[in-house]
Amino acid sequence: MSLNEELVAPAAAALTNPYLEGPYAPQPDEITATDLTVLHGAIPKDLDGVYVRNGPNPQFAPIGRYHWFDGDGMLHAVHFENGRATYRNRYVRTAEFEAERAAGTALWRGVIEPWDGNPAGDRRERNAANTDVVFHHGNLLATWYRAGKPYALDPITLETKGIDTFNATLTCEVSAHAKVDERTEEFIFFDYGIHAPHLRYGVADPSGTITHFTGIDLPGPRLPHDMAITENYSILMDLPLYNDPRAAAAGRFKLYFDRELPSRFAVLPRYGDGAEVRWFEAAPGYIYHTVNAWEEGEEIVMVACRVSKPSPVTDRANPIAQLLAYLRPEATLHRYRFDLRTGATTEEPMDDVNTEFPAIDQGRTGRHGRWSYQMRLSVDHTMLFDAVIKYDVVTGAKQTQPFGPGIAGSELTVVPRPDATAEDDAWLTMFAFNTDTQKSEVWIYDAADLGAGPVCRIGIPARVPLGFHATWVSGERMRSAADDSVEES
Ligand SMILES: [Fe+2]
Repeated sequence: MSLNEELVAPAAAALTNPYLEGPYAPQPDEITATDLTVLHGAIPKDLDGVYVRNGPNPQFAPIGRYHWFDGDGMLHAVHFENGRATYRNRYVRTAEFEAERAAGTALWRGVIEPWDGNPAGDRRERNAANTDVVFHHGNLLATWYRAGKPYALDPITLETKGIDTFNATLTCEVSAHAKVDERTEEFIFFDYGIHAPHLRYGVADPSGTITHFTGIDLPGPRLPHDMAITENYSILMDLPLYNDPRAAAAGRFKLYFDRELPSRFAVLPRYGDGAEVRWFEAAPGYIYHTVNAWEEGEEIVMVACRVSKPSPVTDRANPIAQLLAYLRPEATLHRYRFDLRTGATTEEPMDDVNTEFPAIDQGRTGRHGRWSYQMRLSVDHTMLFDAVIKYDVVTGAKQTQPFGPGIAGSELTVVPRPDATAEDDAWLTMFAFNTDTQKSEVWIYDAADLGAGPVCRIGIPARVPLGFHATWVSGERMRSAADDSVEES
C-alpha cells in the first residue's frame, strides 16, 4: 500500500482541500499596482529594495489530490523606493507552466499522486519552482523543494527569463534553500535525488559560473530541505526521514522516519570535495529550516528549527489531517555545536514553542548573528502563522509579537538600515493576510521595537495567498549586479 493509498479514504475525493481555499486560494490575476496606499504610519524613506516572496498558486484545477507543494510558483513583490511602494505578482513561467497553459488544463499529477502517468516520463513531479527565491548574478532565482532547474526572473518586473544555466555550467538540479553569501556574492547550493551520489553540492562565483561541484555519498536517497554555511564551511544533512526503500522499490513513495538512525550532518570546506566531508551525528529528528551557522574557534555552531518527532501519518481516519501532518512542522529552536577537533556534537533545545520560517539579516548568513525572527504556528489545522518571535539565538531569550485576530503572517525579511549601528537597527517587511476580510497588506516593523507593532501598514489591491519563502534584495545589490553585467557586455 502506498502513502497515497493510505492517505485516501473512499470519501476523500469529496473533501475540499483547505490549501485551495481562504488564505490559500489561488490568485488568478497578475497585476502591477503603483503608489500603494499607506493605511497606517509612513513608508520609511530609507527602505530601498524589493521584498519578494514565492508561493504555490495553481493555474488549473489539480488532477487528483492537491498538496500545497504542488501549485505553480508565483512571486509577490513589493518594491520600495523614496518612500513609495509598488506591488507586482507574476507566475514563474516554468516549462511545465507553459505546457499546461497551452493545453488549458493540468497535465501533471501532484506530489502525493502515483508516480506514473506523467508526460515527464520517469519523474513524477513537475518543477513548480514555488518554494524559495534568492537573488544572485542579477536575477531572482526561483527554486523547488524537490530540486529542479532554477528559474531566473527580473527582480523588478518579475518577468521570467527562463532556466538559469549558470553560464552553461549547471549539470544538475538545484534544491530550494541555496545560500547566498552576500559578502563574497557566492551562490552555494545542493541537489538531491534518487540516483547516486544522492547529494550533490556546488558553489557559483559572483558572475553565476559554477566553479566547484562535488558529490556526497549517502546510504540512500534522502529528503534534505535546507543547508547552512559558515565563512569557510558548508553543512549538509542526512536525516532519518526518507522514502521507505520498500515502497521506493515498488515505484511508490511513503515517508518513513527511522528512530534508530542518527541525524547526520556533513561538514566540508566551502570548496571541499565529497571525500573531505566530516560527519557529525546527533539525535534523530528532522529539520526543514536552518536559522544560521557560524564558526567559534574550532567549533561550528548551527541553529535550526528542529522537528523531534516527524510523524507523517497521525490520524488514519482523517485523510486531510494526514495530508497536513506531512506538511505541518512541529519545530522548536535548537542549537548544535560541531567540534572540529574531536568530531563530537553537542546539541540543546533553546525553546519549546512551535516556530518556523526563520529570517535573519541575510548579510550575516554564515557569520555570527544574534537575532532570528520566526513565525509562530497557530493551533489551526493548516499552517497559519499568528505571531513573530524575535529570538536571541545566543541566550535563547525571546520576544513574542502576535499579529492579532484573523491575521496570518508570511515569512518576513530583515532590512538593515543604512549606517546601522546594531544588528536589529533594521526594518522587517512582511505580507499580512486578513482571514476575515480576505485582504492583504504589507507590514513594516522596527526590529528594535517589535512590541510597538507595525510602524507602517500598506494596502495591496489584490489577495496575496499564503506561501513559502521570501528574500530581500537591496537597491544597492541590484545596482551593483547591473553594473557588473554592463562591464561584461
Ligand atoms: Fe523551505
